[in-house]
This record gives sequence, C-alpha cells and structure tokens, in this order.
Amino acid sequence: MTDTIRVQPGIMDIALYVSGESTLKGRDDVLKLSSNENPYGPSPRAMAAFAAAAGQLHRYPATDHAGLRAAIGAVHGLDPDRIICGVGSDEVLQFIAQAFAGPGDEAITTEHGFSMYPILAHAVGATPVEVPERARVVDVDAILAAVTDRTRLVFIANPANPTGTMIPDADLRRLAQGLPGTVVLVLDGAYAEFAAGYDGGVSLVDAHPNVIMTRTFSKIHGLGGLRIGWGYAQRSVIDVLNRIRQPFNLSNAQLDAAEAAMRDVAYTRHCATENARWRDWLRAALVQMGIGCDESHANFILARFASPEEADGADAALRADGILVRKVAGYKLPDCLRITVGDEAACRRIVGVLAAFKGVR
Ligand SMILES: Cc1ncc(COP(=O)(O)O)c(C=O)c1O
Repeated sequence: MTDTIRVQPGIMDIALYVSGESTLKGRDDVLKLSSNENPYGPSPRAMAAFAAAAGQLHRYPATDHAGLRAAIGAVHGLDPDRIICGVGSDEVLQFIAQAFAGPGDEAITTEHGFSMYPILAHAVGATPVEVPERARVVDVDAILAAVTDRTRLVFIANPANPTGTMIPDADLRRLAQGLPGTVVLVLDGAYAEFAAGYDGGVSLVDAHPNVIMTRTFSKIHGLGGLRIGWGYAQRSVIDVLNRIRQPFNLSNAQLDAAEAAMRDVAYTRHCATENARWRDWLRAALVQMGIGCDESHANFILARFASPEEADGADAALRADGILVRKVAGYKLPDCLRITVGDEAACRRIVGVLAAFKGVR
C-alpha cells in the first residue's frame, strides 16, 4: 500500500465560496451589483495614498499597524490597543475561528447566515450548527437553545448578509448576556456603517469579554479590492489573535490607503447618505411593483419574488440588460435576488428592467 498525504479533518467538507459574478459574455457595459461594492469607489485620499505607496514597495510594512489602528481609534472613539487589522474582515474571522475552535467543537450559524462562517468552522475542524431564522431575521432564542457544552463560537452579521435585516437591540443584548462566557460571540459589522445609529456592537464588546466585533474597509470605504478589515475586542482577546497573525499581513499600500480612507470622514458620510437615499428609493419602487422587500439596513436589497421561477426570470431579464445581481438559492432563499444599491443611474436602470419584467410599465 502506498502512503498518501492526509487532509486535516473538516477541510474536505468545505463547499467552495461562490463570489458575485463580474462579467457577462459578449458585453462590455456590465453593471455589477452582485458583490455589495461601493458604487462611488474609494475616497480620492485613499487612492492618492495608494499611489504614493508605490515608491515604498521595497520596504517591509509595519508589523504593528499603529498608524491605521490610531486612525480607526480616533474616528470610532476606540482604544487602538484593542484593535487588530487583517486581510479583509475574512482574515480576522479566520483568526477568531483558529484561536477559539477546533475538532469536536461547534460553531453556531444561522439559516441565511454569511456563507464564510461554515467554511471557517470546517477549516479548523469544528462543526457548524445552523439554526433557523424567523422571517429572515436572526432568532436569538434559536441560537441560545442550540448552545451545548461543545459550542465555542456564534457567528452573526448585523446587519445580515444577504437579508439586510437587523437584530433588534434588546435581542442582541439578550444574546450577549445569555451566552455562556465560554462561547465567543462574533458580531460581524461588515455593513454596520449603513445602519443608522448602530455602532457595530462596541458597547457589547466593552461589556462582555467573549464578544468580538469585526469590520471591513470593503463596503462603505470602497476598498474591497485592497483587502483590509479590522476587529475590536478586549485586550486579552486581541493579544490571542495577534499571536496567530502573520507579522506582515498588510502591505504599506493597504495600510496607507485604509488610514486615509478612515480619516476621510466626510467622504464616508457622503457614501452612507447616498446609499440610504437610493436604497430606500429602490425598495419603495420594488414594493410598488409587487416585489417583496424587507427593510434593509445595508447597501443591498433582498428582492423577494413570487417563486424561484420568477426570481430566475427576473435574473435572466437583468442579465439580458447587462446587469449582474446575486442569486441566493445557496442561502436558502431561492425566490430572492440580492441587489447591491448602486448610484442613481444604476437604481433607475434596475427599476426600469424589473418594471418591464413585471409588466407594470
Ligand atoms: C457579512 C460579511 N462579513 C464579512 C465579509 C468579508 O468582507 P471582507 O473580507 O472583504 O472584509 C463580507 C463580504 O461580503 C460579508 O458580507
């Protein structure tokens, strides 16, 4: 018998992540609304910082990310010593899974939860345990009921992707209070800046040593292509995560561009305002033509059709017009399409195509 290499437990259970499509064969005018990107792009200051970093490509970057952490701390009113930065928030989520779960452990995810969570659990040999949501909203009681002696992690995005819904404040507090201190509650705030008046869970992190918040530069800051995210937790937790972070995980270009983006508060506010305006306009227009939409607190809308067939038909009509949105059957939402909120022209184009599809115009 020949010896073979052995894959670690869980890894072959991973279903490969499917990202939003970006091209349509034969078209060079594609409108990409499939990955929740910022339609206004990054801050001009971030682009200038990125360009300026070109002259430093031969230099290793800082290992402590002090400049970026200071900027995040100043803008969000947080202690920089309690912040960790990673290659997208995906990497910070990976640090968390690696640090706190392993074979035999369980990680709770929810019915329509972000698809990276089970991937991260499997990657460390842990078992993802999926609990039902209530009408596309994370159900705190279902989570609490699913906790066992083996539970180590709970992954929640608030606002959630792909539903765009939020957990009511009181429920979120109840969840943080109700979980055993041995269970890490991950509050993924990738879309927190789009939710009016929401701090991403900072107060819960401050109150509970087992709560960690993750954030990203990929959405509101328009830097998805550059890959930068961050996490906020109590100092002892950040100390754990830093032990598994590669010293040079972020390049000078990433650090400088992210710092400039963070400090350009006026630009961030502008993006949030425009998003809210066109998100609400788009939702109202879709609802008026008979397409169901929960209130979204993010930079996308989950459009609910009468059936999976109608959702497929709408997707085909959009593609015929060069518009790419996200099919979400893989998120147990086969009758829905997730549509990123674009700029005014993009929103009007979407509405025009869907109105024609529904025969309402
Ligand atoms: C809920 C949620 N969390 C995390 C991420 C990861 O973002 P990034 O790694 O770009 O920071 C995404 C990206 O789409 C997301 O939707």
